[in-house]
Amino acid sequence: MVILGIETSCDETSVSLLKDGAILASEVYTQAVHAAYGGVVPELASRAHLGKVEALAQSLFAKSSVTCSAVDCIAVTDSPGLAGALLVGIGFALGLHSQYGMPVTGINHLEGHLCSLFLEHPDLSYPFLALIASGGHTAIYRADDFGRYACLGETVDDAAGEAFDKIGKLLGFPYPAGRAIEQAAAFAPEDRDISFPVARLGGSSLNFSFSGLKTAVKYFCREKGDGWVALNKAGICRAFQKAIVEALARNLVIAAEQSGISRIGVAGGVACNGELRRVLKARFGDNVYFPSPALCTDNAAMIGRAGYERYKRNMLRFPSMNPSSGL
Ligand code: KG4
Ligand code: ZN
Repeated sequence: MVILGIETSCDETSVSLLKDGAILASEVYTQAVHAAYGGVVPELASRAHLGKVEALAQSLFAKSSVTCSAVDCIAVTDSPGLAGALLVGIGFALGLHSQYGMPVTGINHLEGHLCSLFLEHPDLSYPFLALIASGGHTAIYRADDFGRYACLGETVDDAAGEAFDKIGKLLGFPYPAGRAIEQAAAFAPEDRDISFPVARLGGSSLNFSFSGLKTAVKYFCREKGDGWVALNKAGICRAFQKAIVEALARNLVIAAEQSGISRIGVAGGVACNGELRRVLKARFGDNVYFPSPALCTDNAAMIGRAGYERYKRNMLRFPSMNPSSGL
């Protein structure tokens, strides 16, 4: 069975074809227009999706041997995300639906990230703990089965990726800054004089808070002055990354202890981070699963895979745009 996945919830325009849950072909276009603004500009995102989605779909079908009439189902992100951006993907899906008649299912973007884990790891089984850490979300879910998720903790302010991007902006890196911060940090030796606090929310809370860390880096840089900061940028990146990774790892360890579940899946753009992978591998060994980096950041293959899971279970649902829903 063939699924066409469509993802346009933020600043990646992506379409993907899956056969029996495995990727046949995929196209991802990362919108460059936002770099100049230091963050995603919603209206520019909608327009860029509109200008790109059809050409990407044409290229997708051209490079696979599948025709549009062979698609059994379309899976399109309908929540959460930027309203105008979601509408472009949903409108495109419904256009194909009216032309070819195949069913369309709406997909929650976070469930898509969760399902990205299954694209390369057929051995991953429920129940597991899922850390979804991206530019828009940071939360730990207990995943008991497909469609059965309990949120154990989430950020009370910034998402982890958002913190990377904001600190990147402060340090002069282009948006999105996560990868550049990781690369800069790799050049820095351990420097005990640069360290930042990791917020603890008290008790047995599995929530995260990254806004204090962001403020700490900001005041630290202000106190040291531009010249010092320019010379010690790599060290600041290293200490900042360490604080984020510690916060994510610490809550996962507590969640595993509290739930008795030690199988962990990590998804979302921040799951690309090599230091996070190293620390979690050291703690959970072969019990921690990551998608490969291209499947961590936003892509339509994960949306197609979530569609496949819905199709198999007879759980298709008509797209219903909800820009601010959770998982
Ligand atoms: O999942 P994603 O593509 O989009 C959302 O759903 O938000 O995640 C993008 C986020 C950005 O904030 C970006 O800076 C971050 O993922 N990111 C990273 C790395 N690569 C991307 N953060 C840390 N280290 C990385 N290597
Ligand atoms: Zn995402």
